Order: sequence, then C-alpha cells, then structure tokens
Amino acid sequence: NIPVLSHWCSRWSCICMCMCVCGTSTVRGVFGHNVTLPCRYDTHAHGVLSICWGKGKVPTSKCSNTILSSTDGTVVVQKSQRYQLLGRVAEGDVSLTIVDAQRSDSGVYGCRVEIPGWFNDLKFNTHLVIEEGRLHATLPK
Ligand SMILES: *[C@@H]1O[C@H](CO)[C@@H](O)[C@H](O)[C@H]1NC(C)=O
Repeated sequence: NIPVLSHWCSRWSCICMCMCVCGTSTVRGVFGHNVTLPCRYDTHAHGVLSICWGKGKVPTSKCSNTILSSTDGTVVVQKSQRYQLLGRVAEGDVSLTIVDAQRSDSGVYGCRVEIPGWFNDLKFNTHLVIEEGRLHATLPK
C-alpha cells in the first residue's frame, strides 16, 4: 500500500533528520553584530587544555578547516581577526566569538576539547544561523 509506505518513509526521514540535527545546538546571530558560539569544559579535572574550532562538524580527529586553535590557553591559530576567544579561557570558557557576523558565516562549527587519553575528547557542534537585523520600520499613523 503506497500511502502507508510513503507515510512510513517520511516518518523515517524525520527520525533521521532529528538524529543528525538534534546533537547540534543552534545559535542565532544578527548580521553585522558579534555572535558567540558556546564551548566550555571543566578545568578542575585536567587543567587548561588544547582546543580547536573548525568550520564543519568535529571529525574523528582534530578539527576540520581549523579557524582557531589554542594550546595551554594561548591562541596558536587564528585564521581571521574576526574569530576571537573573549571568554575566560583559563577557566575553560573557549566560546568562539565571530566579530561582525556575515551571511556567509552561517553553517556548522565544531569545537573540540582535547582531553588526554584515547577517545576522550569533548566535541560540540553548533549550527550558526545569521539573521537580518531588525529594520526600523515606521508604523503608519
Ligand atoms: C565585537 O567584538 C569586538 C572585539 O572584541 C569589539 O571590539 C566590538 O566592540 C564588538 N562589537 C559589538 C557590536 O559588540
């Protein structure tokens, strides 16, 4: 029965989409403003760790298209001055701020925190959506 099958398929694709998207948090930024993508870890357990931010989801190792990385709290790679760590890096706040957000900044960003040992790394994927700023429309009188 075709209708049942197509219904089942759409439900299945919905579940698939959820599995792909639900592990990713979404941040909305406004065009021309600064936007911060959160990434934090606990420094009490391991101290200050190496981290990297990449465009695209966090791959199996390192970061894809690294745009910023930091070792021992010092930024070692910074692909553009628009990518900044403005949080308290020494306290594990390695949230990425994108200065003057552009439409082309939309997309998925991955943050990897390198915890010593195998397969311990923390991975955070964030979907950034850049929205237009509000237009200051004058209301009709
Ligand atoms: C965005 O961040 C930069 C760098 O920290 C700062 O100089 C600028 O004032 C910020 N802009 C806004 C609109 O907050």
